[in-house]
Amino acid sequence: MDLGIAGRTAIVNGASVGLGAASARALAREGVDLVISARGEDRLLATAEAIAAETGVSVTPVAADHSTDEGRERILAACPNPDILVGTCSPPPWGFDYRDVTPEVWHQYLAEGMVGPAEFIRRTVDGMAERGFGRIINIATGAAKFPNPVRVLSGPPRSALANYSVAVSKVVAADGVTINTLLPGFHHTAAAREQFGAIAEKKGTSYDDEAAFAAEKYGIPAGEFGDPDDFGAVCAMLCSAHAGYITGQSLVVDGGVTVGLF
Ligand SMILES: NC(=O)c1ccc[n+]([C@@H]2O[C@H](COP(=O)([O-])OP(=O)(O)OC[C@H]3O[C@@H](n4cnc5c(N)ncnc54)[C@H](OP(=O)(O)O)[C@@H]3O)[C@@H](O)[C@H]2O)c1
Repeated sequence: MDLGIAGRTAIVNGASVGLGAASARALAREGVDLVISARGEDRLLATAEAIAAETGVSVTPVAADHSTDEGRERILAACPNPDILVGTCSPPPWGFDYRDVTPEVWHQYLAEGMVGPAEFIRRTVDGMAERGFGRIINIATGAAKFPNPVRVLSGPPRSALANYSVAVSKVVAADGVTINTLLPGFHHTAAAREQFGAIAEKKGTSYDDEAAFAAEKYGIPAGEFGDPDDFGAVCAMLCSAHAGYITGQSLVVDGGVTVGLF
């Protein structure tokens, strides 16, 4: 199916690896020109090169921290008028005790998970509305909808982002702009490899063993972690020209772990 977005331009923040990179790749496969960002330059340049070589679209890498004013300015300077905006960050530390979440800690994770993405929305959404087309996707976390004591730094900033996104989506819905949030569960990403790879090293097992063990322990009905490329395709689908009637939604992509009847 032709998603009808060839020739559009997208900013994808947090796109050197993981779900952000997979989403950028899926958009590029639909003919979308990209500006992609991440803090670390090496992985970012390698990903930009690989996507451009595979798809032939224009891919501009901007090494920048999107939680800072300076980083946001540089990314927006590279693409002031995107048609599509996708954003994510690394998963905040797992198992952070709520007793240790001081105001300083809040500021750091709110800057990354809420203020940065909201600033990108604020700076781009009116232009999208004036031009009559826009797609905004926050790649957040299942913990935004399903609070969990081990995810106290991950869920709350993204719950706030989803709340803000729904509010703004109502203002721009009649102008062809949609804003939606994806809520991933476990996926085989760089972050997952780091987390479960560290456990494997301690136990003398492998990453695959630990991912399989976690899939069982956390009761993933699909029986395994998700494939980032499939996640990216879902993101591209929500960015498609045909998805204009889906807005203000938060969609869980977690292999069936969480129960939300409607
Ligand atoms: N993977 C999972 O199993 C899983 C499960 C539940 C929720 N999630 C959520 O899904 C999202 C993506 O996770 P992931 O596993 O794909 O993460 P990942 O593999 O760590 O990738 C995160 C990407 O964001 C970039 N990034 C992080 N902070 C940034 C910043 N301040 N400015 C610019 N770029 C930044 C990273 O590059 P640099 O480090 O070089 O900046 C990297 O490219 C996260 O919000 C996470 O909470 C993931």
